[in-house]
Amino acid sequence: MELLDQIKDRARKLQNRIVLAEGTEMRTLKAAEIVLKEKLARIILLGNPRVIAELTQKEGIDISGAEIIDPLNNAKRQHYAEMMVEIRKSKGLTIEEALKLLNNPLVFGPIMIKAGDADGEIAGAINATGDVLRPALQYVKTLPGVSVVSGVFFMLFKNKSIGDNGILVFADCAVMPDPDENQLAEIAVTTAKTAKTIANIDPRVAMLSFSTKGSAKHALVDKVVNATRIAHEMAPELMIDGEMQLDAALNEEVGQLKSPGSLVAGKANILVFPGLEAANIGYKLVQRLAGAEAIGPILQGMAAPINDLSRGCSVSDIVNMVAITATQAG
Ligand code: ACO
Repeated sequence: MELLDQIKDRARKLQNRIVLAEGTEMRTLKAAEIVLKEKLARIILLGNPRVIAELTQKEGIDISGAEIIDPLNNAKRQHYAEMMVEIRKSKGLTIEEALKLLNNPLVFGPIMIKAGDADGEIAGAINATGDVLRPALQYVKTLPGVSVVSGVFFMLFKNKSIGDNGILVFADCAVMPDPDENQLAEIAVTTAKTAKTIANIDPRVAMLSFSTKGSAKHALVDKVVNATRIAHEMAPELMIDGEMQLDAALNEEVGQLKSPGSLVAGKANILVFPGLEAANIGYKLVQRLAGAEAIGPILQGMAAPINDLSRGCSVSDIVNMVAITATQAG
């Protein structure tokens, strides 16, 4: 079974409650209809119920199984605001400020999750990544023992000899512009867990650089060397190696030439890029030029799953992301 079908099967069994924060956005409404029809998750739409009713009637969209919540007019606003004040007390947030912030569905969604009223959230079809992530980071925060939220892509290839049965996992393509060596190590370890959880991949992690095993000397290379060492210390059982160039990571012959004896070189199924520039450009190159299907970004390290859509997303991208988010919620 293909990866997305497996994820959808798991989501169906879980029936988690997923908030679609952009509830008056047309692609989101169409996706909600499909999710409900395919029973992938329970759906909570945020927005003005009258506007949602007008839009769905006009387009003939059936979202009768969805719960609709208006952030501007909800009985739990005061309770949520009090929670926000408590969470942000070191920042001096007042109850008046919290109530105002709750008018924003991108804040209301994460607070619902924090309160246990939802299991996951998706937004980003009409909002920038930073605006989706900031409230999530501020109120839902990271998993215990994790300090860095990052974003992975599952790159799916028709050629099943690539990576793990046609799947390569790229990180961090979405969040940390310039991770330091500790953050990079954490991204590697978290990505290995995500790959196992979502696609049952036995991780072989390559820590990418423009150098393989000392072939170049530079502070940027040192960062990856140190991150590899730290990741080993964090997860001694993990198959991880670096620093290595992309060809050494993926091509058996080059890998063994440049990094003899490495258990990862030439066999990597997880590529950890040294920074967001390389990772974000890298995944788009592979998507556009190699024709790989890019599933993500799937955010990892957050205490509850909140995922960001691309503003160019399609209805089926949103449906897939609902299934992924529902699966992450466990
Ligand atoms: N993990 C955990 N917490 C974080 C992280 C992180 N990666 N980044 C920021 N935070 C926390 C901060 O500590 C801060 O917490 P606090 O308010 O409790 O002190 C809070 O989140 C807000 O952080 P700021 O630094 O104030 O906010 P910033 O404006 O820097 O936003 C953001 C953080 C949004 C993640 C930023 O780093 C960003 O915009 N990253 C790039 C996103 C992007 O554009 N990606 C490419 C597009 S996606 C794509 O193409 C697939």
